[in-house]
Amino acid sequence: MTNPFPRDFLWGVATAGHQVEGNNTNSDTWFLEHLPGTIFAEPSGDAVDHYHRYREDIALIAGLGFTSYRFSLEWARIEPEEGHFSVAALDHYKRVLEACHEHGLTPVVTFHHFTSPLWLLRRGGWEGQETPELFARYCDRAMAHLGGLIGVACTLNEPNLPWLLESFGIGGEAPENRGSVPIWAAAAERLGVDAATIAPFQFCSTEAGFTVKLDAHRAATAAIKARRPDLQVGWTLANSDIQALRGGEEVADKVRRGVNERFLEASRGDDFVGIQTYGRTVYGPDGHAPAPEDVAVNQMGEEIYPQALEATIREAHRIAGIPVIVTENGLATEDDRQRVAYLEAAVDAVANCVADSIDVRGYIAWTAFDNFEWIFGYRPKFGLIAVDRSTQERAPKDSARWLGNLAREHARADAPQPA
Ligand code: BGC
Repeated sequence: MTNPFPRDFLWGVATAGHQVEGNNTNSDTWFLEHLPGTIFAEPSGDAVDHYHRYREDIALIAGLGFTSYRFSLEWARIEPEEGHFSVAALDHYKRVLEACHEHGLTPVVTFHHFTSPLWLLRRGGWEGQETPELFARYCDRAMAHLGGLIGVACTLNEPNLPWLLESFGIGGEAPENRGSVPIWAAAAERLGVDAATIAPFQFCSTEAGFTVKLDAHRAATAAIKARRPDLQVGWTLANSDIQALRGGEEVADKVRRGVNERFLEASRGDDFVGIQTYGRTVYGPDGHAPAPEDVAVNQMGEEIYPQALEATIREAHRIAGIPVIVTENGLATEDDRQRVAYLEAAVDAVANCVADSIDVRGYIAWTAFDNFEWIFGYRPKFGLIAVDRSTQERAPKDSARWLGNLAREHARADAPQPA
C-alpha cells in the first residue's frame, strides 16, 4: 500500500490530568479514593508528578518524534469552589500549552476526563440538572484564558463508558439502590446528601445521566465555539468492537445500541468524533463472555485484539458521518514487545480505513506514561514511557521509539504524500 497518511495527520500520545498530575485533591475522584469501602485499589497520590514535570515530559514526547500531545484540564483545579476560578491554575495550563507549541506539538485538549470538582458531586454530579450550564461556564472561562493556544478541543471523555462497564457488572446501580453500595453510602454520608443523588461521571448509567451529558456536551461546544469559531470540537467515545457468539446476539445488539450507536448518532453535526478502542467485547447466551483460554490476554485478562479499531472507525464513519480522530488506543502489558505488535496492527487498521477514503485525522496512543489506571491503581502498564515512581525517572520503551519514529517519518517535509 502507498502511504495513506497526509503530513498533517496527528501522531500523538495521550494523558489525563488525574492519572498523571498528582494531588488532585479538590476532585471527586480523590475523595472517592479515600473513602471507607472504596472501589479504588489504591489512591492516586503524587501520580507521576506531571503537574511539575510537564516541561521535561513534553520535551521528551516531542524528542521521540510525536507531533501531538493530548492532555486534559482539571476542572477541580480551575474551579476548586463553585464560582471561584483560579487564575494560577489557568496560568499553569497556559504554560503547558506554550510548552507544546515550543516543541512543535499540536495540543489536543480534553476539558473533562472523568474527574469533576467535589462540589459538583454534592450538587448531583452527572445527573444534576444544572451540570450542563456549570460545565459550559467552566469551558468558557478556560477558553477565555487558553483558547488561542488550543489545537483541537474535546469536551467530554467517554461519556458512554458507564454503559459498557455496566454490561460487565461494574457500577450501574439504580439511584434507589446506591445506598446499599458501601462506597456510595460513605460518599453520601460525608457529603450530607441522599445516596440516590451520588452520580460520578464514570459510574452513572441512568437515562438522566445520558441527557445531562449530552446537554453538557452541546452547551460546552457552543461555549468553546463562541470564543473560537474555527476550533475543531468533539467528544471522545469508548467504543469497543461489540460482537456476539451464537445466542448472544440480542444482548450484543442492546449493548451496541446503548454504548456505541446512540452516542455516534448524537455526534452528528460535530466537527469530529474521538474514537477510543482497546479491543472487542463479546456476548454469549450468558452475557459478557470471557476471553477464550487459548488467546493472549492483557493485564486485565481481556483478549489482545488490535484489529477492533478498524471495526469501530468504520462504525463511527457509517453512523456519525463526520471526521474521526483516534484519541486513545493501547494495551496494558508488562511485555513491551506485545505493545509494539499491537500498535503495528492498530496503525495498519487505521491505514486500511484511510485508504478507503474514511476521513481519519490522527492516531493518538494511550498512554504517554505508566500511570494511575483508575480503580485498578498503578498495576496496569499502558505507558509507552516507564516511570519509576520512587524517583519519578522516565524511561521510554521500544514502543515509544517505534511509534515516535513512524510519526517522524510521516511528518518529514519530503515524506511521500497520498495522491
Ligand atoms: C480512558 C483512560 C483509561 C484507558 C485505559 C479509557 O477508558 O479514557 O483514562 O486509562 O481507557 O483503560
